[in-house]
Amino acid sequence: MPSTLPTPPCVESENEILRLSPRSFREFADFITGKLGIKMSENKIPMLQSRLQRRLRELGLPSIEAYKTYLFDSPQAETELAHFISAVTTNKTDFFREPHHFSYLTRTALPALDGDPGRPWRFKLWCAGCSSGEEPYTLSMVLSDYALQRPGFDYVMLATDISSRVLAIAREAVYDAERVEPLSPEQRKKYLLRSRRPNCDQVRVVPALRAKVQFHPLNFMDETYPVADTFDVIFFRNVMIYFDKPTQQAVVNRLCRNLRPGGYLFVGHSESLIGLDVPVRMVASAVYRKAGSARE
Ligand SMILES: C[S@@+](CC[C@H](N)C(=O)[O-])C[C@H]1O[C@@H](n2cnc3c(N)ncnc32)[C@H](O)[C@@H]1O
Repeated sequence: MPSTLPTPPCVESENEILRLSPRSFREFADFITGKLGIKMSENKIPMLQSRLQRRLRELGLPSIEAYKTYLFDSPQAETELAHFISAVTTNKTDFFREPHHFSYLTRTALPALDGDPGRPWRFKLWCAGCSSGEEPYTLSMVLSDYALQRPGFDYVMLATDISSRVLAIAREAVYDAERVEPLSPEQRKKYLLRSRRPNCDQVRVVPALRAKVQFHPLNFMDETYPVADTFDVIFFRNVMIYFDKPTQQAVVNRLCRNLRPGGYLFVGHSESLIGLDVPVRMVASAVYRKAGSARE
């Protein structure tokens, strides 16, 4: 019998199978905008495609179509939604990012909010869109330093994000040593622990700072936020930039429900509330203040 060569399987290149067609991109994009408020124009196709390709490889799924079924219509849909959100959000952050805000907080906002410097004060801050924790821990360092010069000062912080992946990193509070370069040597000594494992160039935020921050999941697109407290200050930096104007307005109004009269709202330096109908007015670069008396 003549030997026959096996027929080559019909293999499309991996990239071809995982390519995001314009129709699929629109479907994912509309879902992301509806769920997270994040604008998705066509220039995001390469970004979304590469992030989804990574997720497909992790799951061992053969095509974008198979992934759609897995995400939208499978028993794993709910669990996968959390992975999908973590895959599509942009979580760029740093310790002491946009540092001018931290000096404004201690030199201007805190003294202005201080009802009576002779009395105990439990200051409340919400770090909204906190990513992997660098921003809330920076604030925790700054507020702990402030407490040394203002007797009776204490603080608590709520830190929220939609991505369960970054919230897990934030709770763990372990960072590569190069991430903490913006800290001064004194801050590193005071607020970080070095890993004892050999060849492990990692640090961990000290327990005293970790205990001050409560991390919770929260989606800014929800109609109401499950937050009971009223805050003296809200940091909401580098999140709005991903939203369209109506979404920015709706989210800032919802956040301001939990901001006390006279309280401060900090946004990212490339963000602005100009043209939005919101109950805060600009008092410094990317710093806004709610109308009303600061004194309680
Ligand atoms: C670029 S990071 C900014 C982190 C930090 N605030 C800073 O300025 O360094 C934006 C964060 O907003 C979060 N985010 C995006 N859309 C969100 C939504 N709809 N609800 C809650 N968080 C959201 C992302 O997961 C991400 O961690």
